[in-house]
Amino acid sequence: STDHVIFSGIQPTGVPHLGNYLGALQQWVKLQESSSTATRLLYSIVDLHAITIPQDPRLLKQWKREGIATLLAIGLDPERSILFYQSSVPAHSELMWILSTTASMGYLSRMTQWKSKLSLPEDASPLEESSKSKLKLGLFSYPVLQAADILVHRATHVPVGEDQSQHLEFSRECVTNFNHAYGPRLVSPKTILSPAKRVMSLQEPHLKMSKSHSDPRSRILITDSAKEIHQKLKTALTDSINSVSYDPDNRPAVSNLLQLLSHFDAQGRSPEELGKVHANLGLGAFKKIVADTISDHLDPIRKRWHEVMQEGNGAYVDHVERIGAKKARDSADATMAIVREAVGL
Ligand code: ADP
Ligand code: NA
Repeated sequence: STDHVIFSGIQPTGVPHLGNYLGALQQWVKLQESSSTATRLLYSIVDLHAITIPQDPRLLKQWKREGIATLLAIGLDPERSILFYQSSVPAHSELMWILSTTASMGYLSRMTQWKSKLSLPEDASPLEESSKSKLKLGLFSYPVLQAADILVHRATHVPVGEDQSQHLEFSRECVTNFNHAYGPRLVSPKTILSPAKRVMSLQEPHLKMSKSHSDPRSRILITDSAKEIHQKLKTALTDSINSVSYDPDNRPAVSNLLQLLSHFDAQGRSPEELGKVHANLGLGAFKKIVADTISDHLDPIRKRWHEVMQEGNGAYVDHVERIGAKKARDSADATMAIVREAVGL
């Protein structure tokens, strides 16, 4: 029998940047390495979530494949971790519907991600009728699908960043509501909070690195070549002091580069220590060190990513996903048998 079940998901929105990698994906690999063989690991490319905003169908298909390639490239082992598309397992959607019959509307409307997607401040009052009509139901009920993703696999642990902890709280609320109505059938998941690794934009160091920033130089993708990484660092915003020091208040840009360097430092040195180590360097030389360190780490990931994508012209990725989806369906079907029985379906 399985003692622990770990589930997490990522949207197919193109090749991840360093923020996604350090803030989320790297933790998945660490969990694979540290968990016992009795732990079931499920990592999903959540394509049903992606379509809550308009997508180009051809691109979405491409990004899904790239998503599996990414998970393989960063070190997830398909023999050990179940890798699959959310839409390959219909039980995610089925459980979502069942959960939605006991989930609270009030709770959902108070959630901040919903408000941020509407560009409303966190303390905004309930929606005005005029803004409601443009909004899609799927965007509103998104957290119920997220709850179903987790609960359908009876996940005991879910690794997420701070920004997702509210959604996990809602998943536990869904368990409480369902179990109150039908008896103790669903398992309440625990949060594994990813180590806080906020990666900042290379162009606007006060903002998080994000795919939504228009300047592609603001982010490093995990498939960037050494040359691209060097170019992005060369043009990274800094200040007019041509030396290195860790001083987040007065030198945010240089301090962000030191933080980035620290995340990849083989000796695990802090940004403060690295600031002292490199104090005598000019910014040009320092940026070269940062670029070299990052590209040393990403080099095997990039190579593996291209290998995996090219293998059989995508057939290998499709094969990994098919096997993962089969295992994920078995995992979900076991829960659905319990749920259907409890509800009387
Ligand atoms: P983006 O901001 O590029 O749209 P997402 O919102 O799709 O990224 O985030 C996917 C995952 O990556 C989330 O778990 C999020 O916490 C993490 N993440 C995204 N950007 C960063 C960042 N700059 N620093 C740390 N983690 C990040
Ligand atoms: Na985001």
